[in-house]
Amino acid sequence: MIIRKGIEKPDMENLPVHIAAIMDGNGRWASSKGLPRTVGHKAGSEAFRKISEYLNEIGVKYFTVYAFSTENWKRPKEEVSAIMKLLKEYLLEAISDMAEKNIRLCFFGDQTPLSDELKDLIKKTDEISKGCTGLTVNVCLNYGGRDEITRAVQAIVKDGVKPEEITEKLISSYLYSKDTPDPDLIIRPGKEQRISNFLLWQCAYSEFYFTETLWPDMDEEEMNKAIISFQKRKRRFGGI
Ligand code: IPE
Ligand code: IPE
Ligand code: MG
Repeated sequence: MIIRKGIEKPDMENLPVHIAAIMDGNGRWASSKGLPRTVGHKAGSEAFRKISEYLNEIGVKYFTVYAFSTENWKRPKEEVSAIMKLLKEYLLEAISDMAEKNIRLCFFGDQTPLSDELKDLIKKTDEISKGCTGLTVNVCLNYGGRDEITRAVQAIVKDGVKPEEITEKLISSYLYSKDTPDPDLIIRPGKEQRISNFLLWQCAYSEFYFTETLWPDMDEEEMNKAIISFQKRKRRFGGI
């Protein structure tokens, strides 16, 4: 890996284990250039690929990205289909590429309403990347924090768990993120400063980093800035 000169670098010995990102601002990125919003989504998927590779190279263990929320179905039909089409194209390309780079791809979210083709691709990606030991990328697709918790409660009741057996650990084990530690750092580009139903349970003690940069413009340098900001903070977890 070549780290470009003149860019401030984070302390590589003290990296966050788990970084999450709300990949927001694709539409505005495209509109500001007089382009259709779908071009922004395409540019966003390219930024995602490059950033995943960078985080893998520097040794971050988990990267969770918000790709499509349970609320994003409210968008015009054409935009939703364009995003789904892009996802399919992306996965077709990424399957072998990510495995070659030792990146594991996992998916959080309810796959029921996705097309059979997309479901198959997700399954295939899951199988192919299962053995990868580098960065684990969790792609949140038709994901909502409230939906995740609701499903967990339903499954707990269905399993006949007794009230006294319900603990925070048990609830965590029913979430999509059961195999992933809580995010240390959550990055939201795109000017908004809100959580938009992302990782509601898991973000209890996450550090937040907001930037005006739109997601398609996020790169190695912008990620370094976020990591450096994280490294300057003192996490107390309620202690002193
Ligand atoms: C994020 O970018 C991608 C998705 C939500 C699918 P947006 O599409 O929300 O872009 P803006 O926020 O409208 O610029
Ligand atoms: C959050 O972005 C969801 C994703 C990036 C997938 P939105 O654009 O949907 O969020 P709001 O509507 O601005 O809160
Ligand atoms: Mg948005």
